[in-house]
Amino acid sequence: MVLGYRPALKAGDMAPPSGESPLGNRLDPHLSRYAKRTHGMTASEIRSLFAVASRPEVVSLAGGMPNIAALSMETVSSTVANMLATRGQVALQYGSGNGDQHLREQICEMVGLQGIAPHPDDVIVTVGSQMALDLITRIFCDPGDVIIAEAPSYVGALGVFRAYQVEVEHVAMDEHGLNPEALRECLKTLAAQGKTPKFVYTIPTFHNPAGLSQPQDRRMEILQICQSAGVLIIEDDPYGLLGFDGHIPQAIRSHDSDGVIYLGSFSKTFAAGIRVGWAVAPHGVREKLTLAAESAVLCPPAFSQLTISTYLDTQPWMDQIKIFREVYRERRDATLEALTQYMPEGTTWTHPTGGFYVWVTLPEGMDGTAMLPRAVTARVAYVPGTAFYINGDGRQSIRLSYSFPEPDRIREGVRRLGGVINEELKLMHTFGTLGVARPSVSSQGSTPGPDVV
Ligand SMILES: Cc1ncc(COP(=O)(O)O)c(C=O)c1O
Repeated sequence: MVLGYRPALKAGDMAPPSGESPLGNRLDPHLSRYAKRTHGMTASEIRSLFAVASRPEVVSLAGGMPNIAALSMETVSSTVANMLATRGQVALQYGSGNGDQHLREQICEMVGLQGIAPHPDDVIVTVGSQMALDLITRIFCDPGDVIIAEAPSYVGALGVFRAYQVEVEHVAMDEHGLNPEALRECLKTLAAQGKTPKFVYTIPTFHNPAGLSQPQDRRMEILQICQSAGVLIIEDDPYGLLGFDGHIPQAIRSHDSDGVIYLGSFSKTFAAGIRVGWAVAPHGVREKLTLAAESAVLCPPAFSQLTISTYLDTQPWMDQIKIFREVYRERRDATLEALTQYMPEGTTWTHPTGGFYVWVTLPEGMDGTAMLPRAVTARVAYVPGTAFYINGDGRQSIRLSYSFPEPDRIREGVRRLGGVINEELKLMHTFGTLGVARPSVSSQGSTPGPDVV
């Protein structure tokens, strides 16, 4: 018998009345075996609602899915055919842990648009920028370490931080993104507790979920604060080329190549299904990142890398990005117009100049998490604000994503949402308060569902 091994319960085994046993429960006989780090990996109750929300009659303003229909499938298939004909032997083989050399050179050219001028060796290709977030947290954070993130912050990053048992300190945003005063205050408080954050995680451009962008002077201020505190910045930038007026903000990393790790992705500028992203890391960090990447996946998929590389070499990729910008601008406009038309007084929202998301703040006293089942019943879905906070805050807010539905569907979805909010307001005025005698639906501290990154 293997030491420490306990036989799993068989499916038919009787469980104690509570459904729990030292080994597990009927649903999961392995329950007691999981590592502590999995305790934070829980699916939220709203996950099941999203199963309903994916029905065709529901307008989903929840998922941040790119509009792949705007990409020509003929272009993709001829690119793949071309790639296989010219580099098929390489594409179907293992590759190097930090990614294809030529693709890393191409990425250097692309990030030049954001003012970044790395050496190709500073680029590590990853399986989407999500993997870069995972690797960075893995190499920097022990359980109990502190990191700083905007409030609200990207739900997928919070999931990674939770999985590595990292403590997240949220720092408030204002209309220009991460608030420097709040950041200084947070660093001061942490220092007083003898804590040094491992990094500040920020999305300065077309923020997910807040739909805000940091102006250049704000970026500089954030950078100076972090430099003087000696804190690394993780700059997450999957939407940077998707500004509706064509303006490309300069990255924080363009001002400091040692103190900032920059993350990019082809998910929004080409296709999410290709699963290729990257990190531009300081010299010292790239070795550890590559070793961590090798232990996770050996190498990023050569097939995907060479497909995107061939696409960049042979297709007018900037024209495609312009098409995406137009599509998303039209949808942003539809969303903002519909919000103006259908939202009751007391509701406010951000006005994104790029990216996929609008952050809506509901009238005082309302609860976006508790309202979700009613919204889904009214055939509209969104992500409750609580999903974007580590600590259960954000109840009065919701995130709307306009990237996927057609403009007419967006208008219809926002009209339905307006109806739901008005109904909630009526109830609130009648009964004085909400949140009483309503189904308990929580999205706090857990992963909302696959459709909502
Ligand atoms: C802010 C942010 N970072 C990272 C990601 C992950 O993107 P991917 O792994 O597809 O590159 C997303 C996806 O929506 C995102 O919004």
